[in-house]
This record gives sequence, structure tokens and C-alpha cells, in this order.
Amino acid sequence: MTEQFSKKAEAWSARFSEPVSDLVKRYTASVFFDKRLAMFDIQGSLAHAEMLAAQGIITASDRSEIERGMAQIKSEIEAGSFEWLLDLEDVHLNIEKRLTELVGDAGKRLHTGRSRNDQVATDIRLYVRAAIDDVVALLNQLRSALTDVAERHFDTIMPGFTHLQVAQPITFGHHMLAYVEMFGRDAERMLDARRRVNRLPLGAAALAGTTFPIDRLRVAKTLGFEDVCHNSLDAVSDRDFAIEFTAAASLIMMHVSRMSEELVMWISPRIGFIDIADRFCTGSSIMPQKKNPDVPELARGKTGRVYGHLASLLTLMKGQPLAYNKDNQEDKEPLFDTVDTVLDTLRIFTDMAGGITVKADNMRAAALQGYATATDLADYLVKKGLPFRDAHEAVAHAVRACDQAGVDLSEMSLETLQGFSPLIEDDVFAVLTLEGSVAARDHVGGTAPNQVRKAIERVRGQLKD
Ligand code: ARG
Repeated sequence: MTEQFSKKAEAWSARFSEPVSDLVKRYTASVFFDKRLAMFDIQGSLAHAEMLAAQGIITASDRSEIERGMAQIKSEIEAGSFEWLLDLEDVHLNIEKRLTELVGDAGKRLHTGRSRNDQVATDIRLYVRAAIDDVVALLNQLRSALTDVAERHFDTIMPGFTHLQVAQPITFGHHMLAYVEMFGRDAERMLDARRRVNRLPLGAAALAGTTFPIDRLRVAKTLGFEDVCHNSLDAVSDRDFAIEFTAAASLIMMHVSRMSEELVMWISPRIGFIDIADRFCTGSSIMPQKKNPDVPELARGKTGRVYGHLASLLTLMKGQPLAYNKDNQEDKEPLFDTVDTVLDTLRIFTDMAGGITVKADNMRAAALQGYATATDLADYLVKKGLPFRDAHEAVAHAVRACDQAGVDLSEMSLETLQGFSPLIEDDVFAVLTLEGSVAARDHVGGTAPNQVRKAIERVRGQLKD
């Protein structure tokens, strides 16, 4: 028996007669990625030990030895001096082995009434719960930064698009607040998922529960879980909560990606609506004139990676019979990378959004180019008594004439306009201006500067709670 194998054999069993090959060891080990769960693993173990002692399953002195050992392990991990061993397979066995080195038999008693199956499910739930709290806090920071931009530009006019063609004038503040709404729903979705994440699997042991007189509610309370998982087989095997988190994360990235696409277009000199600070851009190694919006482009690209993780997790789960299977070890890397990607993206977006500078003249000029007030003219005729479909038709003729003459609707003479409908009078010019057009959409959810201000107040109220 090699020295390395003896370490491994100690970890689970003396039942095996030959060592696993190095390749199998590497293939099955998870310590190099699941060591990220270390602090949650310790937190779960301490809660378990506390309950074991309270129930008289271990002694009070075993419990305090376990606490002493865990405190030492924590500081070793924080200091970077903890020695992670591939031979010990995963984060759980590495910590337990070190604990036993430090405190002897008390360390060996920690695993009473528990299995790595319910232990790892508990760790991941603690990890996802903390990730949700970080994501929600960052979403709120991003919403706040976008709301600040909206406030600075509550009446800055830009063209609103449908089919990427100028449709109607809108305010830039209104456009920013559209993203504030999306990210608000994303935060709600995360908080909703949190309720289902926040259940305690511990006590399920390997799959069937344990013969020891445990108190699961006590552990749940210590760890801040709202309840226990009510079926031991389900508790150790399902990762639906991780899938739900990744699905909610995918929606965040989808929104980020849509926004990125707009930023990239707006920054393009062909459009020139905004600028972002140089620190979010890079130059080209060959074309000296270039300033490339790398950050939004990468965010758009990284969206695919998070969608990929969602597909991985769904696929990981779909063929698994009850209860725990080792397949589940594969849940961690997609989950960790999802968390890293979403958190970094939200951080960088918050910073970048705060530094958006708006080129209001370019926005205005673009809004004047596409007959953006044509609907206003149709609405004007309707208010004078013309049925909407007839108004639509009259304005279509007017737009065609503008196109031929190369002028905007607001630049036509009154006489020319009256040729399209005798109902047109000289009050028409008030509705044909960009300012008149946006100001007229003055109802909840509309683009009027007045409404943008109200919407900002509403969001600020939400962000305060
Ligand atoms: N490293 C394992 C995982 O992540 C821990 C549970 C292992 N349980 C087992 N019976 N092999 O899923």
C-alpha cells in the first residue's frame, strides 16, 4: 500500500484491496474546485456539532474541541496555509481529516448522523443563498446607477426604435428606466428562488435519514434556514434550486446582453449617441483610431457561457435516479462560474453605467430624421374627429411627400399639410415638435419627462426599502 493510498483509505474505508489509479483519483476528486465551499462546510459542521451535543449524541467537551479545531482550520484557510490534498478527494474530507489531526477523537465523532451527501447539499444551499444576497445587492446598485443617469436625462430626447428604425421620440431617461424595470424583476426572481434554496438538507444523511435522535429544526435555525427539506431522498439528490438560480442568472445576463448591444451601437461613431469612459474600452493593435467597447461586448459574449451552465445543470439532473449520485459533483463548476460571471458583470456594469456621457445633439438629430412624430400627427387628426385608420392613411401620404421633398413633417408649410387633411390647423406644429410629442405621453408608464420624474421617485422608494 502506498503512502498516498493509506491517506485515502483512512478517509473512507479499509474495505478496498487496491489503490485507485492516479487518473481515477484525479477524475473523481473535487477538492480543487469545491474548496470554495470551505467556509460554508465549517459553518454547517459547527451547527451539526452544536445539535449533536445538545441532543446528547456527543459530549459538550467533544463539541468544544470541534469548535477549537475548526477555528484553527478557518485561520489556516484564510492565511492560505491549509494544505489541500487531492488524496482526500473533496473539501469535506480534507477538513475532517485536518480536524482529526488537530483534536483527535472528537474530530472523528463529527460525522455521526451525517453523510457527505447531506453535507454537500447543505454547503451548496448556503453558498447559493449567499450568492443570491450578493447578486440582489449588486442589482440594486446597478438600478440605482441607472436611475441617476435617468435623472440627469429625464427630458433628453432620443429616437425610440422598433425594428431598429426610428419610431417615436422618447426620453433617454425613460429608456434607462426600462432597464431599471428589467433588473428589478431579476432581483425579485432571485429573492423568490431564495425561499426554496433556504431549506436544510442535513439530517437526510446518506439518503434515508439517521438512527440518531437528531434535531433538524435546531440545525435549520442555527444556519438561518426557514425550514428543513421534508423528504430525505429529495434532500440529498435534487439540485433544482441551483438550476433555478442559474436560470434567474441567465435572465440577468440576457438583460445585460441586450443593454450591451445597445451600448455598442450607441458608442459606434455611425450612431454616436453616447460615450463610455476609456477605462471600459481598448484600442486596436493595428488601427490607431479605434476605441472598442470591449466590456459590453464581453458581457454579451459571457451571456452564452451562463446559458451554457444552465443547459449543463439541466442535463446533469435529467437522467438521475433517486437518490444521490456522484454526477451531482458536477454541479459545482457551472454554478461557481455562473456566480463569478454574474457578480463581475454586475459590478462592472454599475461602474460603467455611472460614467455614460450622452451626446444629446446627436440623439436629437437622429430623432428628427425618421418622421418620428408621424403618430402624433395621426393622433392629432383623431382628436379633430377623423377615424384613426383614415388619419393613419392621411399621414402616410404626408410622410411620403416629406420623403420626396427631403424635409421633416414639422418643416412642411401649413398649406402643404392641409393638402393631406383639411382638419389641420396652425396648432399642429405644437404636436409635431419632439418636445410636444414626448410631453404628450403623460400617463403611468409613458415617456413624458413628467412621468420619468415620477418613475424615478418610485424606483428610489423601492431601493430604500
Ligand atoms: N464531493 C461530493 C459532491 O460534491 C460529496 C458527496 C460525495 N458523496 C459520496 N457518497 N461520494 O457531491
